[in-house]
Amino acid sequence: MDGRDLVRSVKAVGSGGAAQGLRTVRAAWRRRRTDAIGLARRGAERARVPGPVQEAVPGPGGGVVRFARAELRITVAVTGAVFWGWDGAGPEPSYALAGRCPRPDPRAALEPDKDGGWRVVAERVTVVVSRHGAVEVRTPGGVILRRDLPPRWWEPVDGGTARWMQRSEVPSDARFFGLGGRAAGPRLRDGTYRLWNTDPGQPFAPGDDPLYITMPVQMVVADAATHLVFHDTSWDGTVTLREGREGAGSGHDRAGVCEVRMDGGPLRCWVIVGTPARVLRVWASLTGAPALPPAWALGHHHARWGFGSEQEVRRIVAGYQERDLALDAVHLDIDHYDGHRVFTADRDRFPKLPSLAQELRRDGIRLVSIVDPAVKAEPGNAVYDSGSAEDAFVRDASGRIVEGVVWPGDSVYPDFTDPRVRRWWGGLYEERLGQGFSGFWHDMNEPVSFTAFGENTLPRSARHSLEGRGGDHREGHNVYALGMARAAFEGLRALVPEERPFLFSRSGWAGMQRYGGSWSGDVATGWPGLRASLSLVMGLGLCGVPYSGPDVGGFDGSPSPELYLRWFQLASYLPLFRTHASLRAGRREPWEFGDEVLEHARVALAERRRLLPYFVTLAHLARRTGAPYVRPLWWSNPENRELRDCEDAFLLGDSLLVAPVLEAGVRRRTVLLPRGRWYDTSTEVAYRGPAHVEVDAPLGRVPVFARAGAVLPVQGEDGGLALEVWAPARGRSGGGLVVPDAGDGWAEPEIERYVTRWKGRKLVIRRDGEGDGGEPARPVRLRGLGHA
Ligand code: GLC
Repeated sequence: MDGRDLVRSVKAVGSGGAAQGLRTVRAAWRRRRTDAIGLARRGAERARVPGPVQEAVPGPGGGVVRFARAELRITVAVTGAVFWGWDGAGPEPSYALAGRCPRPDPRAALEPDKDGGWRVVAERVTVVVSRHGAVEVRTPGGVILRRDLPPRWWEPVDGGTARWMQRSEVPSDARFFGLGGRAAGPRLRDGTYRLWNTDPGQPFAPGDDPLYITMPVQMVVADAATHLVFHDTSWDGTVTLREGREGAGSGHDRAGVCEVRMDGGPLRCWVIVGTPARVLRVWASLTGAPALPPAWALGHHHARWGFGSEQEVRRIVAGYQERDLALDAVHLDIDHYDGHRVFTADRDRFPKLPSLAQELRRDGIRLVSIVDPAVKAEPGNAVYDSGSAEDAFVRDASGRIVEGVVWPGDSVYPDFTDPRVRRWWGGLYEERLGQGFSGFWHDMNEPVSFTAFGENTLPRSARHSLEGRGGDHREGHNVYALGMARAAFEGLRALVPEERPFLFSRSGWAGMQRYGGSWSGDVATGWPGLRASLSLVMGLGLCGVPYSGPDVGGFDGSPSPELYLRWFQLASYLPLFRTHASLRAGRREPWEFGDEVLEHARVALAERRRLLPYFVTLAHLARRTGAPYVRPLWWSNPENRELRDCEDAFLLGDSLLVAPVLEAGVRRRTVLLPRGRWYDTSTEVAYRGPAHVEVDAPLGRVPVFARAGAVLPVQGEDGGLALEVWAPARGRSGGGLVVPDAGDGWAEPEIERYVTRWKGRKLVIRRDGEGDGGEPARPVRLRGLGHA
């Protein structure tokens, strides 16, 4: 039991009394015993490398290269994505892929290379295979973006799953991003990152790794090009990264190194090369378009573990309304359940949820419900009974149902890797809909079992269906939450076909964006936590999950008024803007931090509301192109090394640059501006990037810049959609896309394209596609003219 285990068991005792504490001790022993019986001990292993090349067989989009002791299959897809798999591994089955794998590119084929190697030449990428099984990814111009050394396997002599290791080199100037939600990012510095979704058991800060969402997805950004690499296996593993260094003067360059070690699963990967935008577009075409949140989900949410009663919910809502503060959703945590049982409501404290929901809805506020996967193991609990009848719960190798401990006490876990179980679970949301909930917040789905020692999840030997293939928790763990999201998404689609489901989840895996978003989990209250929460949003965005945001103010303790406000301001520019905190934490309502904070929070809320049409547009663009709303500064200039290293500001779509305040006492800050002309939106002063500029960051706002020429959809005075146009530099033009909200259904709004340009001394704006006479039908406000 290390310090953290102790904290966990104390936390468990604290949250459920001594009985819960004892349960966690029992669960820990049970877990050990189950694995001791269910998992064969790893005996002697034999190492293997591919050996020398023997032959190559061309096939569609590439072909197969055979080595003495391994076989490599390469396929370039029509989308330009490259797949390769060793030892017969194909792209399917895969939990990450959204549908069938893309068709091979008929123009790409295997051909002999020098020194006995082989290569596949495609339009955007060349893949070169050496005669010992090294695989290089090159730009069409021949620059090496990634060199995978021949892989190594360790195979148990007595049979069983092979472990493998893949070491790769990348250019010395390359930077690594991604790997899911990492507190220490967004730039992933030298270190080892584990691939095992984990509830850290206590609020996390930048040093804590891994967290709730891990993914073997890396975005590697180098001068020559950006590439994304995805090792498609859900097993436990690690990625060790070491950034390269360029030799000064006559010194040699040291390549960047990435070493992926996996405890099992196929050795297969996808590589996508291009600009960051192209890479994410192809990634989204492979793993699924991000679900489109309803417009209300792009507003302000207030959550609280421990509202405790309907009266308290009403009191908080009234607090917002009396002070004229925008509120779009209220989230109910586990305390509204009956005895912490999922899909129930406490009839004493929440007797009339449907009326509460209706009442709130009349005021434009939606109710969102937490949903935990663990089901209290107790006959008479309807969900337990129906799940048992359905044979829905995860069993161990001996066939016994696996029990863990979560909030309601002894609990069992639906096997979301089974399509039948997903259907059953999806149907349970009907109860929630009946209670009036409009959205769902999936939690504790790493999945968690409190434990006095050892890992706080299911035994590794626990069995999973894995879509009928059969396997154990070593393979099922990382995709557990993904399956839960799918179950909910598909269930909701069937229950309310006319509405888009809204859900977000603490845990997940590659492809989770198809079903919804995420939030940053239990981030520690403190300035480092504030920074970590931004890192998670950016990292997830680069892995294809564009919708997420932090608990404003942090999960635990009580933020200082300044910290609360800075968090509030940051989150007001992130896709999910939600205040939330633990049962034991201090208050998080904007009026609890004094009048000054309240006034500044009001400004942030009003600005969020004004920018709502922009967020709606970004949500649509994310769905259509895979581009996250929140983007690193290097998004359009990946070749700029200084931007690659800048972590304290971000682009919000194409038009805005947000420079949050991440430190106490800061009232002025330096901002690194990418190439182009940028207006400080509060003063309209124009700056020319690339440059470091120093600007005011008073307590009342964080610096935000608008790109010259941008056409920004905003909410006008009358509540309708208006266009805010930032003057392009004289002689230059600009423009932007606007996607109007088309409601919570599936209607596809038409994209409006606007262009701006100078005509003599006059700035004109036109709707594109309607000839020169296409005056915008929407009100226009010109800005920055005085400084253009
Ligand atoms: C977990 C969640 C947190 C939630 C709490 C109680 O800690 O991360 O958001 O409030 O459980 O449900």
